[in-house]
Amino acid sequence: MLDAEVRELMQAFVLSDYQVQEVYSRFCLEVARGLKRSTHPQANVKCFPTYVQDLPTGDEMGKYLALDLGGTNFRVLLVSLKGHHDASVESQIYAVPKDLMVGSGVDLFDHIADCLAKFVEKHNMKTAYLPLGFTFSFPCVQVGLKEGLLVRWTKGFDCAGCEGEDVGRMLHEAIQRRGDADIAVVAILNDTTGTLMSCAHRNPDCRVGVIVGTGCNACYVEEVENVDLLHPDFKRTKKQVIINAEWGAFGEGGQLDFVRTEYDREVDEKSINRSQQLFEKMTAGMYLGNLVRLVLLRALERKLIFRQSSRRPEFATVLQKHQDVFETRYISEIEDDTFPEFASTRSIVKKLFGIEKASVEDCQTLKYICECVAKRAATLVAIGVSGLINRTSNKSVVVGMDGSVYRYHPKFDAYMREVLVKLVKSDKAWDIMLSEDGSGRGAALVAAVASKTK
Ligand code: BGC
Repeated sequence: MLDAEVRELMQAFVLSDYQVQEVYSRFCLEVARGLKRSTHPQANVKCFPTYVQDLPTGDEMGKYLALDLGGTNFRVLLVSLKGHHDASVESQIYAVPKDLMVGSGVDLFDHIADCLAKFVEKHNMKTAYLPLGFTFSFPCVQVGLKEGLLVRWTKGFDCAGCEGEDVGRMLHEAIQRRGDADIAVVAILNDTTGTLMSCAHRNPDCRVGVIVGTGCNACYVEEVENVDLLHPDFKRTKKQVIINAEWGAFGEGGQLDFVRTEYDREVDEKSINRSQQLFEKMTAGMYLGNLVRLVLLRALERKLIFRQSSRRPEFATVLQKHQDVFETRYISEIEDDTFPEFASTRSIVKKLFGIEKASVEDCQTLKYICECVAKRAATLVAIGVSGLINRTSNKSVVVGMDGSVYRYHPKFDAYMREVLVKLVKSDKAWDIMLSEDGSGRGAALVAAVASKTK
């Protein structure tokens, strides 16, 4: 049985029906403000047009390179689109060293170009002409399919000399500096767009793409007439365009203050992008472990966990060492655990604090803390997804999802569905699908579309 005091501690993370409705209304309002030219500058859900106006037909063919930069690793991929909704992907993961994440932009892009060159060499493609789709998962103002001006870095990146710059051009220049491969950057896209495209390649009803990984964001298909920011030229022949919502920034105008906790405020205050990406800081993998860590510190202080142990101050010191000591993946592992063995929970507790055999009660408390933090994240994501589904003109909408939190957390999907059932309009049918190779296949598909529309 869970202690009433533990429940009380976690109450701040449990959103009431009223709060869910209120966040939903505020989110929908921000999306509308983001789309409208007059309110766009003040809106925090920016709703950037991506210039991707064609969903895949499944018939796309050809070989494309793809780059995927957006977290601690980046990937280079070779994608062969084979028609008949089929594709194969070969890929290689490269680390982004920590110093490059906060160094100079030129160094970052030179490193990317080096890895790209190694990959091309390894696959004996040095002499081939290769169109490349660049999945760049940071907020960008797109001015065309292959030009994206970086608005701000997120997720722990902070490279000098990139904000306001066209990252497509920066990549192109880095490739030129090496001068040893014939690679053309034909498209820049967000990872959410890649997810939507790759899911639409398999399921033509896909209209929303969502990432809940290191960062959190979504895109969706909007009618061009609702998108003030899109030049009339792009409204003549095409009826729709994918919008990159950049919902991670939601709340920067205070819209979430009524549900943010003291822990959320601390996460934000200690981050390198203070006051920014507040919705992301409540939902994304980069922050969820840190939230649990802060709650655990409070639980220790109030003697709500490990109460039999005299070593509590020592445990607190462990948790204070670094904001990443409680890794986000522990949340998934703990929620996946079974009562009363708690094998994973006990091994995590042992690894962190050196406790040999944590009590069932302590394991339950830890599990409840993780559950509340993850469930709130899933609820917030589902609120956003519902808002986007309800905006689409389709009667049946599939949501393509990707990202480590969604993929590996055993209940994230179920938590989301509980909320979607309540918020999606009753005349719409919806479903969620997991993306496969979103970053690669999606980038190749956008590159294929770009080559077609050239
Ligand atoms: C970025 C988005 C991206 C998301 C998921 C956020 O921090 O702003 O552009 O889609 O992370 O990777």
